[in-house]
Amino acid sequence: RGVRRCEASLASDYMQASEVADLDWENLGFGLVQTDYMYITKCSSDGDFSEGEMVPFGPIALNPSSGVLNYGQGLFEGLKAYRKTDGSILLFRPEENALRMRIGAERMCMPAPTIEQFVDAVKQTVLANKRWVPPTGKGSLYIRPLLMGSGAVLGLAPAPEYTFIIFVSPVGNYFKEGLAPINLIVEDKFHRATPGGTGNVKTIGNYASVLMAQKIAKEKGYSDVLYLDAVHKKYLEEVSSCNIFVVKGNVISTPAVKGTILPGITRKSIIDVALSKGFQVEERLVSVDELLEADEVFCTGTAVVVSPVGSITYQGKRVEYAGTKGVGVVSQQLYTSLTSLQMGQAEDCLGWTV
Ligand code: COI
Repeated sequence: RGVRRCEASLASDYMQASEVADLDWENLGFGLVQTDYMYITKCSSDGDFSEGEMVPFGPIALNPSSGVLNYGQGLFEGLKAYRKTDGSILLFRPEENALRMRIGAERMCMPAPTIEQFVDAVKQTVLANKRWVPPTGKGSLYIRPLLMGSGAVLGLAPAPEYTFIIFVSPVGNYFKEGLAPINLIVEDKFHRATPGGTGNVKTIGNYASVLMAQKIAKEKGYSDVLYLDAVHKKYLEEVSSCNIFVVKGNVISTPAVKGTILPGITRKSIIDVALSKGFQVEERLVSVDELLEADEVFCTGTAVVVSPVGSITYQGKRVEYAGTKGVGVVSQQLYTSLTSLQMGQAEDCLGWTV
């Protein structure tokens, strides 16, 4: 018994727990913890996904010639389930993830589950693994829906068969800094997305292509990389795995989603929360100069939630924000408002929780 590192696994953060009771809920971090079940269903290229089944979590068989392995025909989603103090479990806006997967699937020439199917499958997967939903305040159950071209191809073409899987893992904070402010470096060599590309959909390749810049940044002691637009090289895009917001006085600005930026569900929710708190929110081009003159900067994403930025380094110049020694007041206010909703501790007037 006991939580043990799986030596044989290639993934350094793969953790296998024999029993929920063995998990250290206080120090979850963001690594995979093996849970009990995963959801799986398949369909042909022109078909509908059949009703899926819950199978024990574990490896899947894939044809070496599958579309996803050879040509990157794949999409993923991320959402979280929180445990309320009364023991019940809440999902946050799951239909938004379903919709985003459908939009992404169209771009990647894949069939996708209907919104109803997606949400139902998420519920089934969470319920089958409900013992892994952390106690209130100790983290959440991260839900990872995955859609891939599993059928074999050789010439470049959409795969003839698709697989939709959902697996889950209990998680804590995404960044090793926890809730402390992170340090970003503005990337001026590599770009995440280009106009006309796939930057606005959650395709798996978008995440492989940012690994190198992230690795270099981490070697230099930064938490992650902030990308600039590939055309003018002066407007903010996003961080490798989250959106960015800049605060100046009562105005909160964030890059508009116009094709190269992922339309984050946390991004969208924070915009609404900020508006409801009386902030002025602007979705537009945000220049790197504005970033350097901001009062506060924070990132948003399902995994990172609302993550305050303590410093930005751009072309060798480091700018520190209000949050360097603590969390900035605006970031803190928005974090608290959002997470209270997600955890069922605030009244959900908008019907965001399920
Ligand atoms: C998420 O926030 O769910 C993401 O997709 C980021 C991922 C790289 C962990």
